[in-house]
Amino acid sequence: MKLGVNIDHAATLRQARKGTEPDPVHAAVLCELAGADGITVHLRGDRRHIQDRDVELLKRTIATRLNVEMAATTEMMERAAAIQPWQVTLVPERPNEVTTEGGLDVVLNQAQLTQASARLASHGIRVSLFVDPNLNTVRAAHKAGVQAVEINTNAYAVARTEAERAAALKAIDEAVRMGSKLGLGVLAGHALTYRNVGPIAAMELVEELNIGHAIVARALFVGLQQAVAEMKALLK
Ligand code: PXP
Repeated sequence: MKLGVNIDHAATLRQARKGTEPDPVHAAVLCELAGADGITVHLRGDRRHIQDRDVELLKRTIATRLNVEMAATTEMMERAAAIQPWQVTLVPERPNEVTTEGGLDVVLNQAQLTQASARLASHGIRVSLFVDPNLNTVRAAHKAGVQAVEINTNAYAVARTEAERAAALKAIDEAVRMGSKLGLGVLAGHALTYRNVGPIAAMELVEELNIGHAIVARALFVGLQQAVAEMKALLK
């Protein structure tokens, strides 16, 4: 199981002062030294944390794989074509949301997502769609011609009761199996922590987990390299 570390919050801290420290590029290199298999950033339309400069420098600096989350807008398609990350994960984006609130409605936006995916693929970029654990959505993602899906683990992470947690895990497991059966790469993430990652890390068909907030928060107390190494050990 690979670990992609989302370093958006290194940029969030920098943007708190609109200065230059901490630099997410430094954070990315430390994550890699600690065993991260990839670096993820979300280039938001409002540039609230990651800036264009960050993505450009990350592409030129990191030794692992750069995954850029973005909305399927014309502006972002142009940015992706210019930067050429290893993978683009298309996500829904609402201006006032605190974080990505759910997966894409692939069925409703099938034409737009198919077009965006084809455009990205024409630049040699692998395309993944962030989707809720729903079988019809995973089937629609496959129809859109993408190479991968990232299954949203948020409902599992926020489940309050054992029954809710078991139902959310079952939905993730079924979505993972469907994605894999259709030949898609299957990733997962959102709101995973050191406490709740175990059952997701045990899903053998999931190739990679994308984890950000929990790792950057822990890094404040133990340092980024230790925080990444601890999560990597849990995935093993
Ligand atoms: N996957 C996607 C698509 C996301 O938008 C995010 C948050 O930016 C993550 C994974 C990581 O979530 P978290 O920061 O809660 O680990």
